Amino acid sequence: MKKIMLVFGTRPDAIKMAPLVKELKKRNTFQILVCVTGQHQEMLYQVLDRYGISPDYDLSVMKENQSLFDITTGILDRLKIVVEEEKPDLVLVQGDTSTAFATALTCFYMKTPIGHIEAGLRTNNVLLPFPEEFNRQAVGLVSKYHFAPTELAKENLLNEGKEETSICVTGNTSIDTLKANLLSDYNHPIIDWADGNRLVLLTAHRRENMGAPFKNMFYAIKRVLDEFDDIKIVFPIHPNPIVRETAFSIFKKSSRLKIIEPLEVHDFHNIMSKSYLILTDSGGIQEEAAFLGKPTIVLRSATERSEGIDAGVLKLSGIEEEEIYNAIKTLLGSNVEYEKMLKPSIIFGDGLASKKIADFLEINYSD
Ligand code: UD1
Ligand code: UDP
Repeated sequence: MKKIMLVFGTRPDAIKMAPLVKELKKRNTFQILVCVTGQHQEMLYQVLDRYGISPDYDLSVMKENQSLFDITTGILDRLKIVVEEEKPDLVLVQGDTSTAFATALTCFYMKTPIGHIEAGLRTNNVLLPFPEEFNRQAVGLVSKYHFAPTELAKENLLNEGKEETSICVTGNTSIDTLKANLLSDYNHPIIDWADGNRLVLLTAHRRENMGAPFKNMFYAIKRVLDEFDDIKIVFPIHPNPIVRETAFSIFKKSSRLKIIEPLEVHDFHNIMSKSYLILTDSGGIQEEAAFLGKPTIVLRSATERSEGIDAGVLKLSGIEEEEIYNAIKTLLGSNVEYEKMLKPSIIFGDGLASKKIADFLEINYSD
């Protein structure tokens, strides 16, 4: 029986790997190991606990305010020992985090084959997002299998010269998790708090947005909050001290804006589905918003998920205060503009991605 090790380390990786861990373990075709790098700590364990995943290894690399060097060298040093000991036949990594990159580099040095989940996303600007665009291209360079969420992602991989037989279009596993989490009779104190108002859900964490772009976003959002007295904004804030410092310095106490701790993923998904509008610089939230058909302003100057822009459910605002302010104001001020974006779609997946990945591995990689 071949041994497959899944390596991941941040909240979004865990949310996207959880359904795959479950699917692969259920089948009994492979021996399955889970190694977490611990690039995130509380946010990672929030997800692992929710899905009952007990990692076989935890590299515990997280430090407060960690640099890219800290994460990368921490993983290289510690994962080498695990790979030497376990000798997996295949390692699966997810997405574009430093965990995915450092894992792929470790496996490359050790000649261990890699399967890349969420392969082929591209902005083709190596600085946007930073360092994720580099990470995903680098992982792609050394992967044996590429699990592309969309046809566009597959096309990107083919354009880079990857073999067609090494690519499998699966949808994104994030939609597997989202679909399983949605409840029709869901309630939460945040939803009660918003009662009678339009609920706006905000998240922000990207490294390249630190400094002026975060300030621009938060000042623009503050202006919108002052202008529309029928909105309430909830901001589940990332634990990164830099994000927190900027947010707390700009958003002073307000009865219509709540900054809260990161939500459990099932709460986050259900609150998304009950929100009026989403403002985010996240990657994964763009996919989930598209599935839900929830109008979303992407607080960035480029996205690797252009399928959502083409489908009409996502809008890129750029990172200047005035353009962010105008983008939000247009949607809040015009039902016509808003309703144009109410477009549920399965462009990023239909909830069966994990099954498709497991099927591919059974056919192409089992004994
Ligand atoms: C990382 C990924 C990013 C992904 C994001 C998802 C990289 C370079 N970045 O960015 O692609 O979009 O995760 O959220 O891989 N922290 C805690 N507890 C936690 C998690 C983070 O305290 O559970 C704090 C720590 O001070 C840590 C800091 O946040 O040093 C930043 O974490 P890090 O993983 O470096 O960056 P993210 O912005 O989370
Ligand atoms: N999410 C969550 N709780 C929160 C905020 C986000 O569970 O308070 C989930 C969200 O549904 C999505 C993922 O976290 O699945 C996105 O993570 P993040 O934005 O941190 O990272 P990215 O997707 O940009 O890499």
